[in-house]
Amino acid sequence: MVRIVGFFAGLAFVSALLVAFVMPREKVEETAAQYVHEHREEKKISFSFDNPVWGKYDRQQLQRGFQVYKEVCSACHSLKHVAFRDLEEIGFTKPEVKAIAKQWSTEVPSINEQTGEPATRKAIPSDYFPSPFANDTAARVANNNALPPDLSDIAKAREGGPHYTHDLLTSYQEQPADLVKKFPDIKTPETLHYNPAFANLNIAMPPPLAADDQVAYADGTKATIDQMATDVSAFLMWTAEPKLENRHRTGIAVVIFLLIATALAYGSYQNIWRDKKH
Ligand code: HEC
Repeated sequence: MVRIVGFFAGLAFVSALLVAFVMPREKVEETAAQYVHEHREEKKISFSFDNPVWGKYDRQQLQRGFQVYKEVCSACHSLKHVAFRDLEEIGFTKPEVKAIAKQWSTEVPSINEQTGEPATRKAIPSDYFPSPFANDTAARVANNNALPPDLSDIAKAREGGPHYTHDLLTSYQEQPADLVKKFPDIKTPETLHYNPAFANLNIAMPPPLAADDQVAYADGTKATIDQMATDVSAFLMWTAEPKLENRHRTGIAVVIFLLIATALAYGSYQNIWRDKKH
């Protein structure tokens, strides 16, 4: 009896599965963002640190990327997990770091020693990069109610990392008319900017890199929009993962160790069994 009940219960489950399998899925309305992301290819560029084993940062490129952050992005974006003295890791000397901190456009919050009132002072190398806005509300007021995210970890926070930031910075364009015809709700409002690399297509950030030679590179590299976008993306990868090279080096050491250990294990195996074989 139990067997028969069991059999029918099983049959019921299997039929439910079969029905679910055969029934057409309910059609989900495609959004404009899904449509655009499906039909566009993310731009592929290569970075010196792409390779997971021997990839390395190009110090010269990181310095150029820092220059772009300093002259363009730092007007809106903080970099609060990075200290001025960390710049020594990308090849700036101590006196250079000191000068960069001292000349930074925003001062660091402090307290007036005489009155105890809030005040500001010039940055020193041990300070973290000061935020361009006093707080999030002030940042929103200056940016049509959108909050420019802190960029310290952005390369880790977005799929594609530096490839995404480069894509985002170089994909601003006029909104295609046929897209608006197909999806009337997606029409870019006055305060936003059409950018197909951005998740919901309309971004509050105005195109930060709008013309070639927007920065004059200290090392003489031609500052095309693409070059600036690539360099600043590499720099933001470094801020998010400054220890990338150590990690790669450890990886290589572990692989070499394992190879030697395997060779030794094989050798001792041969040795132990040598006289047991015919
Ligand atoms: C005029 C102010 C302004 C400047 C200058 C600016 N940004 Fe932005 N940025 C914003 C705002 C506002 C947002 C938030 C956009 C949104 O949520 O719609 C943003 C968002 C971003 C994002 C996150 C996008 C995402 O996927 O959420 C990245 C990355 C970014 N900016 C990088 C940069 C870089 C790199 C520079 C310098 C080359 C720069 N920004 C310069 C205002 C600015």
